[in-house]
Amino acid sequence: MPSYVVTGASRGLGLEFVQQLGSSPENIVFALVRNKKTADKLIALSRSNVHIVQADITDVNALKLAAQEVSKITGGKLDVLINNAALVEPNHRNLNLDEYPDEKTLEKDLFDSFHVNAIGVIHTTNIFLPLLRAGSVKKVASLSTGIADLDTTIATGYSLAGPYCISKAALNMAVSKYALKYKNDGFVFLSISPGLVATDAMVSEHPSDEEIAEVKDMIAGFTKVYPDFTGPITAEESIRSMLSVIDEATVETSGAFLSHKGNKEWL
Ligand SMILES: NC(=O)c1ccc[n+]([C@@H]2O[C@H](COP(=O)([O-])OP(=O)(O)OC[C@H]3O[C@@H](n4cnc5c(N)ncnc54)[C@H](OP(=O)(O)O)[C@@H]3O)[C@@H](O)[C@H]2O)c1
Repeated sequence: MPSYVVTGASRGLGLEFVQQLGSSPENIVFALVRNKKTADKLIALSRSNVHIVQADITDVNALKLAAQEVSKITGGKLDVLINNAALVEPNHRNLNLDEYPDEKTLEKDLFDSFHVNAIGVIHTTNIFLPLLRAGSVKKVASLSTGIADLDTTIATGYSLAGPYCISKAALNMAVSKYALKYKNDGFVFLSISPGLVATDAMVSEHPSDEEIAEVKDMIAGFTKVYPDFTGPITAEESIRSMLSVIDEATVETSGAFLSHKGNKEWL
């Protein structure tokens, strides 16, 4: 019975990961959320092979308790860890790094993004490593973004959302460090970008004019590099594609930063 931990499973891509993985009865899925009580969509899935576990990924103690909870059910093993949770800061993503109202706000945005998107993922990975080592698959996929790719950033001219992009670029480096350390132990570490996907993080359900303008700017930049790009894909398509990339990933490519297409084509 392959076992999966998915962080940030309350909504968006995390929820869709759990939905697709949980639909195979042979899988056992641990859906990590910050607050069990408010994870309505996840609770509504109501599957016997999906276990909802509470943990904020910046809270080491909560993560350790979560790992114990998983361990009790799996007998001390885990096959695949999907580091999906992230802070996608909604308030300042249309600013350049020198356009923040003040230094404190800029620092907070940088610290918070780094705290969740890099440090939180590193803590989660470290805490689940003993279970992964005992598992037979040994895969860790961490959700990154094409806008953390340096060449793409320059080519698209996308200068906004600095703290988020910087934190994800740091995550990519962390993933390569794990890959190197565990190269000879059968582990596969991957940074994976989901494409541009219609979720709350990208554009809310009832977007303001400002939000729409912001996304238009981003899309205009992407269209320079991807002239055939027609708009965001669905969570269903993104997760289906990423699960196939994760499934096919091998030790030989451990440490890579890939898109949902399994290459460097981010859209
Ligand atoms: N959507 C896209 O187009 C896109 C593009 C590139 C990359 N990504 C990446 O794909 C992943 C999922 O994105 P999404 O669009 O589904 O984002 P989302 O809708 O904003 O969901 C983020 C998830 O992360 C959880 N989370 C945030 N901070 C957390 C913390 N400290 N501890 C535990 N969980 C936390 C949230 O939980 P709460 O419900 O408690 O807030 C939520 O479940 C992220 O890593 C994102 O960076 C998305």
